[in-house]
Amino acid sequence: MIDDTREPHTPPAAPTDAAGPADPIVTDLPPLRIGRHVARLPIVQGGMGIRISASRLASAVAREGAVGVIASVALGLNSPYYHKKKDYFAANKLALKDEIEMARKAAPGGVIGVNCMVAITDHEAMARTAAENGADVIISGAGLPLNLPAYAKDQPDCALVPIVSTAKAARLICRRWDHAHGRLPDAFVVENPNTAGGHLGARRQELGNPEYDLEKVIPEICAYLTGEGYDIPVLAAGGIWNRDDIDRIMAAGASGVQMATRFVCTHECDADDNFKAQFLHRAPSDVVIVDSPAGLPGRAIATEFVRRVEDQTGDFAMQCFANCLRKCLCRDDKETFCIAHALDRAQRGDTHDGLFFTGTNLARSEAIVPVREVLTELCAVRRPAGVGA
Ligand SMILES: Cc1cc2nc3c(=O)[nH]c(=O)nc-3n(C[C@H](O)[C@H](O)[C@H](O)COP(=O)(O)O)c2cc1C
Repeated sequence: MIDDTREPHTPPAAPTDAAGPADPIVTDLPPLRIGRHVARLPIVQGGMGIRISASRLASAVAREGAVGVIASVALGLNSPYYHKKKDYFAANKLALKDEIEMARKAAPGGVIGVNCMVAITDHEAMARTAAENGADVIISGAGLPLNLPAYAKDQPDCALVPIVSTAKAARLICRRWDHAHGRLPDAFVVENPNTAGGHLGARRQELGNPEYDLEKVIPEICAYLTGEGYDIPVLAAGGIWNRDDIDRIMAAGASGVQMATRFVCTHECDADDNFKAQFLHRAPSDVVIVDSPAGLPGRAIATEFVRRVEDQTGDFAMQCFANCLRKCLCRDDKETFCIAHALDRAQRGDTHDGLFFTGTNLARSEAIVPVREVLTELCAVRRPAGVGA
């Protein structure tokens, strides 16, 4: 007898696009509710800047029934709107508007989110642009998004999701939002800085601390939310790779997961093919921590560029051409390197001057595959061992 209590369900048909309708992915995972939106698959594709996840990746993910996320940071750089420094902030807004529109067209009915980092200078402008242009969800980390509700107050359908790494931060956000804005988060992303890619929400000396384990923090946050009587879904991020990881963390209380590194090696990822190639044939030891000029540690691939940063043997682009960060060691103290330049170069496939962010699962990428293949594998109906086909 099958003793799996979860009922497999066939979600409503996926929306059609230019490539024609695809059969919906059949799953026994529960759907994910975030505010007024429901994703058929409880998977959020993590925002990846600069322009690693734009409309192409986000719409491919949303079309299959998961949540596709456009990273808003510095989107204007590789856009027709950017020519020189003074264009930067206006170009970011116009490019984000375009990307949301393109994602919507390619994934009608899908859930489209925008990632807005608190640490960037135009955080407020990006969040307002996302909300005003129909983002279903705004996901916001790299700092505590304490004012986010103010930026989206006229768009009640836009769900707001802070990224935190501790129960303390989740508690603080709930209290502040409730007190100052009269609303609560629509979900939390709980990100483990010991495994996630990109800028990390912990100091370098704190990395490796088991206090950040998702199996510990997720139940803590769930207990706090339940204790307060809040029905807020919690999504686990950092180091999630396969269905075993998803099942394990959902058993610990998560309502879904956010995954980023796994989506880099997809045909639809918006980065240059050479960016994706850097993720193949790697060893776990190729993942290192680099000090970002943002004053945060970042997790990245150990490339020749990172070695130059570590050895301080430099020859980096140092001129500030975008004023992109609120706090920047490159702009303010003439130290380290320009993060916008390094991430933009990586997106274009430049292995000499590019910085390639990655999570600790780097070495598990084996091939470039379609998004649909990744999601089908992650969500396939599971039978208990030894039962049927
Ligand atoms: C290439 C890359 C770029 C990223 N850029 C961002 C970003 O712009 N904003 C953000 O909040 N998180 C960013 N992240 C973090 C991811 O959204 C995600 O939460 C994290 O990497 C999850 O861990 P995983 O990569 O092990 O799945 C980035 C991660 C990667 C790998």
